[in-house]
Amino acid sequence: LCGVKLRNPTILASGFLGTTADLLVRVAENGAGAVTSKSCSLEPRKGHANPVVLDWGHGFINAVGLSNPGVEEEVKELKKATGKAGVPVIASIFADSVKNFGAIAEKISEAKPAFIEVNISCPNVESEFGRPFSSDPAVAAEVTEAVKANTRIPIIVKLSPNVADIKSIAKAVEQAGADAISAINTAGPGMVIDVESAKPILANKVGGVSGPAIKPIAVKCVYDICSAVEVPVVGIGGVSTGIDAVEMMMAGATAVGIGSAVYYRGIGVFKEICSEMSSFMQSHGYSKTSDFRGKALE
Ligand SMILES: Cc1cc2nc3c(=O)[nH]c(=O)nc-3n(C[C@H](O)[C@H](O)[C@H](O)COP(=O)(O)O)c2cc1C
Repeated sequence: LCGVKLRNPTILASGFLGTTADLLVRVAENGAGAVTSKSCSLEPRKGHANPVVLDWGHGFINAVGLSNPGVEEEVKELKKATGKAGVPVIASIFADSVKNFGAIAEKISEAKPAFIEVNISCPNVESEFGRPFSSDPAVAAEVTEAVKANTRIPIIVKLSPNVADIKSIAKAVEQAGADAISAINTAGPGMVIDVESAKPILANKVGGVSGPAIKPIAVKCVYDICSAVEVPVVGIGGVSTGIDAVEMMMAGATAVGIGSAVYYRGIGVFKEICSEMSSFMQSHGYSKTSDFRGKALE
């Protein structure tokens, strides 16, 4: 991935177990090819009131609200994690303005992560920050340029599926200097109503949808992005099995992010997905992932 060798193509997605160095190291020890930290902002954020996450039967709906300890504390945790993880650590950042994206990129670089993932796509903070940065190609490019200007670490820009034309956003961030793209963040927002109380279950009422239900949306987004840009793409969204990972890579992804499936299958999911991929490759005569990467695009 951008010249960084991963021992396997599975990556822990941001927001799952990635809140401390110990957790990132634990996921690495359990087989992930790389690990991504929970998105972090310049200042600490409390996030939304509970309940913030619900398993609604076909995946999650969440409105965690990007709770995090702020970049000062995050740098300390990431320094510990990069020293111990033994796999590339990806630091996820977000901000409320283009200028602050630049500022946090500079600060987080002190921890020397292998990549910075630029989360321009969280659907849970719209009311506070206005529209997500990922919904406009010009704004997405401005954020990318601001981050690139403030770090020498390769950056992965994380896109949202909740846009009319994801190809134009992907092209804009590539042109602005993104080294890679990850997609997708959660879809929606959606809502789940408790019919007994006749109220939305999440305190925030609406939340981003993830897990198996969004996989076809994620595959389509990755397919579209890979047909529009040259930079590598990390495919995220509903990947729960080795076959899902193969599908994502056939859409053009270089690696796959795994989030909700950590909950469904446990921390062993990374090793299991790799072994399921290996079985598929053996039975189909593929010796390396590049044998089938992007095959569906041909
Ligand atoms: C509880 C929860 C918290 C999340 N937190 C973050 C986050 O902090 N930053 C981010 O970029 N994505 C976050 N995500 C999105 C995931 O990284 C991922 O893009 C999405 O869940 C789709 O992948 P999945 O279907 O494998 O879960 C979060 C998702 C969930 C369910």
